[in-house]
Amino acid sequence: MAKTVSFNAMDAGTREDYDLVFAQDRGNTAHQAERVFEWLQMMDGDSPYKISRLGHSLQTATRAEADGADEEMVVCALLHDIGDILAPANHSQAAAALLRPYVSKRNHWIVEHHGLFQGYYWFHHYDQDRNTRDKFREHEHYAACVAFCADWDQKSFDPEYPTLPLEHFKPMVRRLFARAPNEHV
Ligand SMILES: [Fe+2]
Ligand SMILES: [Fe+2]
Repeated sequence: MAKTVSFNAMDAGTREDYDLVFAQDRGNTAHQAERVFEWLQMMDGDSPYKISRLGHSLQTATRAEADGADEEMVVCALLHDIGDILAPANHSQAAAALLRPYVSKRNHWIVEHHGLFQGYYWFHHYDQDRNTRDKFREHEHYAACVAFCADWDQKSFDPEYPTLPLEHFKPMVRRLFARAPNEHV
């Protein structure tokens, strides 16, 4: 049986206990990319769009790469909607939280705000202000988020587009999550 900590409650833990816990955590971290792939596969189910949510994610990443985006941005494009099925009420923030320790502040901001910015394309059908995003007009990453949505995200529901498969992106995702995280909790 695997070794376990000595405590039943955290306040009784010792340094040795936490060494054991964090050693296990490091093993989980090494498998993080594989967990992300499993999650993406769950997004390959039924969808009201013409393609699955995985297909949309792959197409968004394919367009980003085709436009010359760097690897970090391509992975952000691939994972921007990974919150969709777990956190439908705040999917952008869920994806941004996953990516935050491994990406720039700029790319984190884009992923975190893309849902609101995408509202430009559909809010008006529900009598909401499609320009709600303009409250961020003075933000340094406003234009980049507008472009992310316009050029990659909102276009990527096309079953005819030559979308690259997940296998193409896997090495990029593995490299991103192999980076030293810039925060612990
Ligand atoms: Fe989204
Ligand atoms: Fe999207």
